[in-house]
Amino acid sequence: MASPSNSSASTVVLNDGHSIPTVGLGVWQTPAGETERAVRAALDAGYRHVDTAAAYGNEEEVGLALAGAAETGVARDDVYVVTKLWNADQGYDSTLRAFDLSMTKLGLDYLDLYLVHWPLPEVNRFVDTFRAFAHLRDQGRIRSIGVSNFEPEHLTTLVDATGIVPAVNQIELHPLLPQPELREVHAKMGIATEAWSPLGQGSLLENATVVDIAEAHGKTPAQVLIRWHVQLGNIVIPKSVNPDRIASNFDVFDFALSDSDMASIATLDDGTRLGPDPRTFNFTG
Ligand code: A2P
Repeated sequence: MASPSNSSASTVVLNDGHSIPTVGLGVWQTPAGETERAVRAALDAGYRHVDTAAAYGNEEEVGLALAGAAETGVARDDVYVVTKLWNADQGYDSTLRAFDLSMTKLGLDYLDLYLVHWPLPEVNRFVDTFRAFAHLRDQGRIRSIGVSNFEPEHLTTLVDATGIVPAVNQIELHPLLPQPELREVHAKMGIATEAWSPLGQGSLLENATVVDIAEAHGKTPAQVLIRWHVQLGNIVIPKSVNPDRIASNFDVFDFALSDSDMASIATLDDGTRLGPDPRTFNFTG
Protein backbone atom coordinates (compact mmCIF):
# COMPACT_ATOMS: atom_id res chain seq x y z
CA MET A 1 0.00 0.00 0.00
CA ALA A 2 1.30 3.47 -0.79
CA SER A 3 1.42 5.31 2.48
CA PRO A 4 0.63 9.02 2.48
CA SER A 5 3.45 11.18 3.77
CA ASN A 6 3.04 13.20 6.90
CA SER A 7 4.90 16.43 7.56
CA SER A 8 8.18 14.71 8.36
CA ALA A 9 8.04 11.72 6.03
CA SER A 10 10.87 11.39 3.59
CA THR A 11 10.01 8.01 2.10
CA VAL A 12 6.93 6.34 0.65
CA VAL A 13 6.44 2.62 1.25
CA LEU A 14 5.45 0.79 -1.94
CA ASN A 15 3.01 -2.13 -2.25
CA ASP A 16 5.93 -4.58 -2.52
CA GLY A 17 7.44 -3.44 0.79
CA HIS A 18 10.29 -1.39 -0.66
CA SER A 19 10.66 2.28 0.27
CA ILE A 20 11.31 5.11 -2.17
CA PRO A 21 12.68 8.49 -1.09
CA THR A 22 9.86 11.00 -1.52
CA VAL A 23 11.90 13.69 -3.27
CA GLY A 24 14.22 12.73 -6.12
CA LEU A 25 16.12 14.56 -8.83
CA GLY A 26 14.46 14.36 -12.24
CA VAL A 27 16.72 14.60 -15.29
CA TRP A 28 14.17 14.86 -18.09
CA GLN A 29 15.39 17.71 -20.35
CA THR A 30 18.74 17.80 -18.58
CA PRO A 31 21.31 17.75 -21.40
CA ALA A 32 23.70 14.79 -21.21
CA GLY A 33 26.61 17.20 -20.81
CA GLU A 34 25.09 18.69 -17.65
CA THR A 35 23.68 15.51 -16.12
CA GLU A 36 26.70 14.19 -14.23
CA ARG A 37 27.22 17.55 -12.51
CA ALA A 38 23.52 17.91 -11.64
CA VAL A 39 23.30 14.41 -10.17
CA ARG A 40 26.48 14.94 -8.15
CA ALA A 41 25.08 18.24 -6.85
CA ALA A 42 21.89 16.45 -5.83
CA LEU A 43 23.76 13.67 -4.02
CA ASP A 44 25.91 16.28 -2.27
CA ALA A 45 22.71 18.08 -1.17
CA GLY A 46 21.32 14.87 0.35
CA TYR A 47 19.13 13.46 -2.43
CA ARG A 48 19.13 9.66 -2.57
CA HIS A 49 16.81 9.21 -5.55
CA VAL A 50 17.48 9.88 -9.24
CA ASP A 51 14.90 9.48 -12.00
CA THR A 52 16.03 9.02 -15.61
CA ALA A 53 14.77 7.17 -18.71
CA ALA A 54 16.24 5.54 -21.78
CA ALA A 55 14.54 8.28 -23.81
CA TYR A 56 16.34 11.10 -21.98
CA GLY A 57 19.72 10.15 -23.48
CA ASN A 58 21.55 10.64 -20.17
CA GLU A 59 21.60 7.23 -18.44
CA GLU A 60 25.33 6.97 -19.00
CA GLU A 61 25.94 10.32 -17.31
CA VAL A 62 23.70 9.33 -14.38
CA GLY A 63 25.84 6.20 -14.09
CA LEU A 64 29.05 8.26 -14.11
CA ALA A 65 27.70 10.43 -11.30
CA LEU A 66 26.78 7.37 -9.25
CA ALA A 67 30.20 5.82 -9.80
CA GLY A 68 31.92 9.07 -8.82
CA ALA A 69 29.77 9.42 -5.71
CA ALA A 70 30.55 5.83 -4.70
CA GLU A 71 34.23 6.80 -4.55
CA THR A 72 33.42 9.60 -2.13
CA GLY A 73 31.24 7.63 0.25
CA VAL A 74 27.72 7.55 -1.23
CA ALA A 75 27.36 3.84 -1.95
CA ARG A 76 25.26 2.54 -4.80
CA ASP A 77 22.92 0.85 -2.30
CA ASP A 78 22.24 4.25 -0.71
CA VAL A 79 20.75 5.68 -3.91
CA TYR A 80 17.35 4.82 -5.36
CA VAL A 81 17.71 4.65 -9.15
CA VAL A 82 14.77 4.74 -11.56
CA THR A 83 14.79 4.38 -15.33
CA LYS A 84 12.10 3.77 -17.95
CA LEU A 85 11.63 1.50 -20.92
CA TRP A 86 11.23 3.49 -24.12
CA ASN A 87 8.12 3.04 -26.28
CA ALA A 88 9.92 1.49 -29.26
CA ASP A 89 11.13 -1.34 -27.02
CA GLN A 90 7.77 -2.52 -25.74
CA GLY A 91 7.22 -6.30 -26.09
CA TYR A 92 8.63 -9.19 -24.08
CA ASP A 93 11.99 -9.93 -25.74
CA SER A 94 12.68 -6.35 -26.74
CA THR A 95 12.12 -5.28 -23.13
CA LEU A 96 14.72 -7.75 -21.89
CA ARG A 97 17.23 -6.38 -24.44
CA ALA A 98 16.42 -2.74 -23.65
CA PHE A 99 16.80 -3.37 -19.93
CA ASP A 100 20.27 -4.85 -20.47
CA LEU A 101 21.29 -1.80 -22.48
CA SER A 102 20.00 0.62 -19.83
CA MET A 103 21.87 -1.28 -17.12
CA THR A 104 25.08 -1.22 -19.15
CA LYS A 105 24.72 2.53 -19.62
CA LEU A 106 23.95 3.07 -15.94
CA GLY A 107 26.78 0.74 -14.93
CA LEU A 108 24.54 -1.00 -12.38
CA ASP A 109 23.87 -4.63 -11.58
CA TYR A 110 20.40 -4.05 -10.17
CA LEU A 111 17.79 -1.33 -10.60
CA ASP A 112 15.49 0.00 -7.89
CA LEU A 113 12.49 0.80 -10.09
CA TYR A 114 11.77 0.21 -13.78
CA LEU A 115 8.80 1.96 -15.39
CA VAL A 116 6.88 1.38 -18.63
CA HIS A 117 7.23 4.91 -19.99
CA TRP A 118 3.84 5.18 -21.79
CA PRO A 119 0.90 2.80 -22.21
CA LEU A 120 0.60 3.26 -26.01
CA PRO A 121 -2.97 1.93 -26.18
CA GLU A 122 -2.94 1.40 -29.96
CA VAL A 123 0.34 -0.49 -29.87
CA ASN A 124 -1.19 -2.64 -27.13
CA ARG A 125 1.99 -4.36 -25.90
CA PHE A 126 2.14 -3.16 -22.32
CA VAL A 127 0.95 -6.48 -20.88
CA ASP A 128 3.79 -8.44 -22.51
CA THR A 129 6.18 -5.66 -21.56
CA PHE A 130 5.14 -5.86 -17.93
CA ARG A 131 5.47 -9.66 -17.97
CA ALA A 132 9.11 -9.14 -18.92
CA PHE A 133 9.41 -6.63 -16.06
CA ALA A 134 8.05 -9.28 -13.67
CA HIS A 135 10.58 -11.79 -14.99
CA LEU A 136 13.45 -9.35 -14.38
CA ARG A 137 12.14 -8.66 -10.91
CA ASP A 138 11.91 -12.39 -10.18
CA GLN A 139 15.53 -12.72 -11.30
CA GLY A 140 16.52 -10.08 -8.75
CA ARG A 141 17.61 -7.56 -11.35
CA ILE A 142 14.89 -5.03 -10.46
CA ARG A 143 13.53 -4.35 -6.97
CA SER A 144 10.22 -2.74 -7.96
CA ILE A 145 8.24 -2.53 -11.19
CA GLY A 146 5.82 0.17 -12.21
CA VAL A 147 4.33 2.22 -14.99
CA SER A 148 4.12 5.80 -16.15
CA ASN A 149 1.32 7.77 -17.76
CA PHE A 150 -1.22 4.97 -17.27
CA GLU A 151 -4.91 5.89 -17.12
CA PRO A 152 -7.36 3.83 -15.01
CA GLU A 153 -8.36 1.56 -17.90
CA HIS A 154 -4.71 0.74 -18.64
CA LEU A 155 -4.10 -0.09 -14.99
CA THR A 156 -7.14 -2.37 -14.88
CA THR A 157 -6.13 -4.18 -18.06
CA LEU A 158 -2.62 -4.67 -16.72
CA VAL A 159 -3.68 -6.00 -13.34
CA ASP A 160 -6.37 -8.28 -14.81
CA ALA A 161 -3.88 -9.79 -17.27
CA THR A 162 -0.84 -10.17 -15.02
CA GLY A 163 -2.21 -10.31 -11.49
CA ILE A 164 0.47 -7.77 -10.55
CA VAL A 165 -0.33 -4.31 -9.22
CA PRO A 166 2.37 -1.86 -10.35
CA ALA A 167 4.22 -0.30 -7.42
CA VAL A 168 4.15 3.20 -8.93
CA ASN A 169 2.36 5.19 -11.64
CA GLN A 170 4.39 8.25 -12.59
CA ILE A 171 2.06 10.81 -14.14
CA GLU A 172 1.98 14.46 -15.12
CA LEU A 173 0.83 16.15 -11.92
CA HIS A 174 1.08 19.75 -10.71
CA PRO A 175 -1.42 22.28 -9.35
CA LEU A 176 -2.84 22.99 -12.83
CA LEU A 177 -3.47 19.24 -13.27
CA PRO A 178 -3.73 17.72 -9.79
CA GLN A 179 -5.26 14.47 -11.06
CA PRO A 180 -7.72 13.80 -8.19
CA GLU A 181 -9.52 10.94 -9.94
CA LEU A 182 -6.32 9.10 -10.84
CA ARG A 183 -4.93 9.60 -7.32
CA GLU A 184 -8.13 8.10 -5.95
CA VAL A 185 -7.78 5.08 -8.25
CA HIS A 186 -4.18 4.67 -7.11
CA ALA A 187 -5.20 4.83 -3.46
CA LYS A 188 -7.82 2.12 -4.02
CA MET A 189 -5.42 -0.13 -5.93
CA GLY A 190 -2.40 0.41 -3.67
CA ILE A 191 -0.30 2.19 -6.29
CA ALA A 192 2.00 5.04 -5.27
CA THR A 193 1.50 8.29 -7.19
CA GLU A 194 4.63 9.91 -8.60
CA ALA A 195 4.50 13.39 -10.13
CA TRP A 196 6.40 14.42 -13.26
CA SER A 197 6.68 18.10 -14.19
CA PRO A 198 5.91 18.81 -10.51
CA LEU A 199 6.68 22.52 -10.95
CA GLY A 200 4.66 22.69 -14.15
CA GLN A 201 8.02 22.78 -15.98
CA GLY A 202 8.72 25.99 -14.13
CA SER A 203 5.49 27.67 -15.29
CA LEU A 204 4.03 27.80 -11.77
CA LEU A 205 6.99 29.50 -10.11
CA GLU A 206 5.64 32.99 -10.81
CA ASN A 207 2.03 32.15 -10.08
CA ALA A 208 0.67 34.81 -7.69
CA THR A 209 -1.02 32.30 -5.37
CA VAL A 210 2.15 30.25 -5.06
CA VAL A 211 4.35 33.33 -4.64
CA ASP A 212 2.10 34.71 -1.87
CA ILE A 213 2.21 31.44 0.07
CA ALA A 214 5.98 31.26 -0.40
CA GLU A 215 6.44 34.78 0.98
CA ALA A 216 4.27 33.99 3.98
CA HIS A 217 6.45 30.97 4.84
CA GLY A 218 9.79 32.53 3.93
CA LYS A 219 10.24 29.80 1.32
CA THR A 220 10.69 29.78 -2.45
CA PRO A 221 7.78 29.09 -4.82
CA ALA A 222 9.51 25.83 -5.84
CA GLN A 223 9.71 24.73 -2.20
CA VAL A 224 6.00 25.47 -1.75
CA LEU A 225 5.12 23.40 -4.82
CA ILE A 226 7.33 20.49 -3.75
CA ARG A 227 5.91 20.66 -0.25
CA TRP A 228 2.38 20.58 -1.73
CA HIS A 229 3.26 17.31 -3.47
CA VAL A 230 4.77 15.84 -0.31
CA GLN A 231 1.65 16.69 1.69
CA LEU A 232 -0.56 15.06 -0.96
CA GLY A 233 1.54 11.89 -0.55
CA ASN A 234 3.13 12.16 -3.99
CA ILE A 235 6.63 11.04 -4.84
CA VAL A 236 8.11 14.06 -6.60
CA ILE A 237 11.06 14.55 -8.95
CA PRO A 238 11.76 18.24 -9.61
CA LYS A 239 14.29 18.90 -12.37
CA SER A 240 17.04 21.46 -12.11
CA VAL A 241 20.57 21.82 -13.43
CA ASN A 242 21.43 24.59 -10.98
CA PRO A 243 23.22 23.39 -7.80
CA ASP A 244 21.64 26.05 -5.56
CA ARG A 245 18.14 25.33 -6.85
CA ILE A 246 18.78 21.57 -6.59
CA ALA A 247 19.74 22.01 -2.93
CA SER A 248 16.86 24.31 -2.04
CA ASN A 249 14.32 22.04 -3.77
CA PHE A 250 15.32 19.31 -1.31
CA ASP A 251 14.93 21.56 1.73
CA VAL A 252 11.19 21.04 2.21
CA PHE A 253 10.93 19.05 5.42
CA ASP A 254 11.13 21.88 7.95
CA PHE A 255 7.80 23.57 7.22
CA ALA A 256 4.19 22.64 6.49
CA LEU A 257 1.49 24.17 4.34
CA SER A 258 -1.74 24.88 6.20
CA ASP A 259 -5.12 23.54 5.12
CA SER A 260 -5.88 26.99 3.78
CA ASP A 261 -2.62 27.04 1.76
CA MET A 262 -3.53 23.63 0.32
CA ALA A 263 -7.05 24.89 -0.48
CA SER A 264 -5.67 27.99 -2.25
CA ILE A 265 -3.37 25.86 -4.39
CA ALA A 266 -6.29 23.56 -5.19
CA THR A 267 -8.06 26.49 -6.89
CA LEU A 268 -5.33 26.53 -9.57
CA ASP A 269 -6.68 23.32 -11.16
CA ASP A 270 -7.67 24.26 -14.72
CA GLY A 271 -6.93 20.95 -16.38
CA THR A 272 -3.85 22.23 -18.23
CA ARG A 273 -1.82 19.33 -19.56
CA LEU A 274 1.74 20.27 -20.52
CA GLY A 275 2.64 16.88 -22.03
CA PRO A 276 0.85 14.41 -24.30
CA ASP A 277 -2.50 12.83 -23.44
CA PRO A 278 -1.72 9.18 -22.59
CA ARG A 279 -5.02 8.04 -24.13
CA THR A 280 -4.02 9.26 -27.59
CA PHE A 281 -0.20 9.17 -27.46
CA ASN A 282 1.11 6.22 -29.48
CA PHE A 283 4.51 7.53 -30.53
CA THR A 284 7.19 4.86 -30.96
CA GLY A 285 9.88 6.87 -32.75
P1 A2P B 1 16.70 24.94 -14.04
O1 A2P B 1 17.05 23.53 -14.48
O2 A2P B 1 17.43 25.98 -14.84
O3 A2P B 1 16.78 25.13 -12.56
P2 A2P B 1 9.70 20.56 -13.61
O4 A2P B 1 10.45 19.78 -12.60
O5 A2P B 1 8.27 20.79 -13.28
O6 A2P B 1 9.84 19.97 -15.01
O7 A2P B 1 10.34 22.03 -13.68
C1 A2P B 1 11.67 22.20 -14.14
C2 A2P B 1 11.90 23.63 -14.51
O8 A2P B 1 11.86 24.44 -13.34
C3 A2P B 1 13.25 23.84 -15.14
O9 A2P B 1 13.10 24.86 -16.11
C4 A2P B 1 14.12 24.34 -13.98
O10 A2P B 1 15.15 25.17 -14.45
C5 A2P B 1 13.13 25.12 -13.17
N1 A2P B 1 13.43 25.09 -11.72
C6 A2P B 1 13.60 23.99 -10.95
N2 A2P B 1 13.80 24.34 -9.66
C7 A2P B 1 13.75 25.68 -9.62
C8 A2P B 1 13.87 26.64 -8.58
N3 A2P B 1 14.08 26.28 -7.32
N4 A2P B 1 13.77 27.97 -8.92
C9 A2P B 1 13.56 28.34 -10.19
N5 A2P B 1 13.42 27.49 -11.21
C10 A2P B 1 13.51 26.17 -10.95
